[in-house]
Parts: sequence; structure tokens; C-alpha cells
Amino acid sequence: MNKKSIFVSTAIPYVNAAPHLGHAIEFVQADVVARYQRAMGNDVFFLSGTDDNALKNVLKAEEAGQDVASFVEKNAAAFQKLLADLDVSNDDFIRTSSDQRHAPGAQKLWQAFRKEDIERKSYKGLYCVGCEEFKTEKELTDGRCPEHPDAELEEIEEENWFFKLGSYTDRLQNIITSGGLRIVPDVRKNEVLAFIRRGLEDLSISRSAERARGWGVPVPGDPTQIQYVWVDALSNYITALDYAHAGAQFKKYWEGSDERIHVIGKGISRFHAIYWPAFLLSAGVQLPTTLFVHGYVTVGGQKMSKSLGNIVDPSPVIKEYGVDAFRYFVARHIHPFEDSDFTMERFKQAYNADLANGLGNLVARVMQLSQSNLERSVDVTFVPYPSEFTKALDSFKPNEALEYVAARVQALDQKINQTEPFKVVKTDPERGKKLIEELVRELAAIDLMLEPFIPKTSKAIIDAIVANTKPANLFPRKE
Ligand code: 2FM
Repeated sequence: MNKKSIFVSTAIPYVNAAPHLGHAIEFVQADVVARYQRAMGNDVFFLSGTDDNALKNVLKAEEAGQDVASFVEKNAAAFQKLLADLDVSNDDFIRTSSDQRHAPGAQKLWQAFRKEDIERKSYKGLYCVGCEEFKTEKELTDGRCPEHPDAELEEIEEENWFFKLGSYTDRLQNIITSGGLRIVPDVRKNEVLAFIRRGLEDLSISRSAERARGWGVPVPGDPTQIQYVWVDALSNYITALDYAHAGAQFKKYWEGSDERIHVIGKGISRFHAIYWPAFLLSAGVQLPTTLFVHGYVTVGGQKMSKSLGNIVDPSPVIKEYGVDAFRYFVARHIHPFEDSDFTMERFKQAYNADLANGLGNLVARVMQLSQSNLERSVDVTFVPYPSEFTKALDSFKPNEALEYVAARVQALDQKINQTEPFKVVKTDPERGKKLIEELVRELAAIDLMLEPFIPKTSKAIIDAIVANTKPANLFPRKE
């Protein structure tokens, strides 16, 4: 099989506050994609970062009485720490304010836009700081932004640069319907197509430097304007690869890659499925190939929000249960596409069932038998992933992949009960040892599938197999 070159990214979050459960979930989902592709032998570049230049960051810094640069730096560090705490294997991390690679790349992209696609004109509209975009009347519900119903929309009148999205209507439609840009799941693809069919209006792609408080990437040749934060933010995916200098990474992981996968939340699919491809088409740059659009997480049935005071910080959960317990829960029990609910009760119940009584118990049983009855470790050869497993992960369904693995865990446990090797080894040592070797081999095959999900545990299991020892309790039961 040929080794593919694959680019994977998370969205870059705003840094107006510390990270929460929703960010942690997306980081894990993207990491599973990246680790799975590496395990398949592919050459992966996995990128994450922070969206530092948004107006909402500026406003929050002002509210906190801090200068914007140190405010965003502090929050960006919290996002970086969360990635590390989650054992996310990102190869790079880009910050759109301080990273030297970014502004020159974002400006190069702007300059590459076809001249006939952009124009400067005056505009009056309602701006939603939450979404960081102007809203048209038809997008509002009772005069409010449906994503941020508590926030006041700001009426703004100013001269801005505009991008004529309408010129790309047919090409975008063709690219999306043909699967040239694959949007998973279908429901999000259909939403995007419906949005295009309603007619693409000119998009404001800059704001006055004054309104932006001078924070952000200046528009080339127009110092009175700052690039609209979405042009700036979306370009991170290529600026991190040194698009500014058409560097080697840009050539390998963007222009010459086989897949360019963005993992994003459903609230920002339009930016990635319409605006980003239109900008790239205009600039003559390759498009992403795939958008994996995940749902939102609710907590006890409610949307997480500051006003409800129900924002979940994932760190204490990771601390108490371990990073792999958190990753496993996200991958198996947070639906990849639909909204999912998170409660600690549900988490604990799943932890005990899946990991303490399930996988952890199985590893202890098999390795106890192996350690006590085999003189040396079992040679394990790496078998290719079964099609049930690859099919699930190729369709961005980590939950289905783990259901499959969990069924194999259960079947192996039953096999121990049915074949009773602990008895056979006493009456017929030869046959008993063969049975135990088979169990260890199956455990190794299961373990290989677990690597993208729970890498630390997966390593502990294979180390135990290689050393022929029973590892310390991997997932102690929680009462
Ligand atoms: O929704 C957000 O948090 C945005 N900051 C995401 C930007 S992703 C992309 F544009 F880079």
C-alpha cells in the first residue's frame, strides 16, 4: 500500500476564555483521526492552534483590564496545556497573533485573490460578535442570532472590503455534490447546499482598523483596514505549513497531499464549506478534501453557557479518571455527528462498565494466565485492521469502531470462561498453554485497535505482553 500524505486539523478556538469540555471533545476526535491515519502507515501532519485576532478576544481583554497580547497569550497557553493533558499528538500549534508564519501568509492569500473578486464599498449591517460575522435579516430568529440569542447585535456602518462569493456559486455546488469536498455527515452537506441555493451574498472580509482596535492582520495596501477574522483564521491551515514561502511542508501536506481533513463543529461548517473553499479557489490554492463536522455537547440536557454556570472544565475529570478514560468516553459515547449529553453519572457508569469491568479486567485475566503459565512471552505479529474497524473510522465514526472493539473484548472474555484454560493447563499443560497463547494473541490484536483511542493504555498492554507480566490495575473501579 502506498503511504499517503494527510493533513488533519482542529478548528482554532477563540481565546476569549479558558478551554472547556467542547474543545476537549474536538481535540480528541481529531486526534483519533490523526493517530488512526498514522497507524495505517500514512504520513500525517496534524495541526492545532488558537484564533487570537478575533474582536471578541479584544473585548474580553478590555473587560479584564488587560492588554490584548498578554490576555490571549495566557488563554492560548491553557489550550496548549489541554492538548498536552489530552495526549493529543498534534505536530504543530499555530497562534495567529504571535506566530511569525501567520501574518505574511494571511496577507499573501489576500494578495492572491483575483482582483475582480474583491471590492471596497460602504456597508451597513448587524454584527454578531459571538459568530464574528454580519448577519442578514433572514438569518435572524426574532431579530436575534440563533447561535447567540442572549447577545445584542451591533449595528455597524463602515467602508469594508468585500468578497464576491456569488461568482463561485456553481463551482462550490459542483465540488460539494461531486464529493470533491466531502462533508460528513450528509445532514451538514445538505445544509451547506441549501445555504448556497438561497443565494450567496457579498461577504465583508475586512473591518476598520479603528473598530478592530488595531488588533489583527492589516489588509495589504490598505492600512485603514484589518482582515476580517475569518479570512485570517481560516488561512492558519496553510500559513502554518509556510504558505508564505511556498515552503516544503506546504508542498507536501497541502498542495501534494492526498487528503486535507478539517475537524470542526457544526456551527462553523459554512465558513469551512463555502467561504474557505471560495477564498482558495480565488487564490488558486488547493481545497480541503474533507470536513468532519461534529455535533455539540450539552451538559445535563442544557447548552453549556456562562450565564447558566454549567461550563465543564475537563481537567478535573482527566485528573481523577486518567486521560485514556476521558478519551475512551469521548470516542465511544459522544456521538461524532449529533449533539450528545455529558453528565458525570453517565461518565462514571460507562467507565466502570467499559474499562474497569471490561477492558481492564480482561487484560488482568489474560496476563495473569500468561504470566503464571507461560515460560516466555508470546510472539505477536501485527495483523492488519479488520474491515469493520477501518470502515467505521474511514467514515469518521469512532463510536462504531469502539463498539466493534468492545464486542471483541467481550468475546475474548467469554472464550476464557468457555475454554477454562486455568483448568486445562493443569490436566493437559500442552493444550492449556496453546489456549493461553491464543488469548494473548487476540489481546494484542485488540490492543492494536485501541492505540488511536487510548495510546498510553495501549502501550502499557503491549509492554505487558512483551514482558509477559500482568500490568498494574489499568482502570480501578470507582464507587
Ligand atoms: O469558532 C471558533 O472558535 C473559531 N475561532 C474557529 C476558527 S477555525 C478556522 F477558521 F481556523
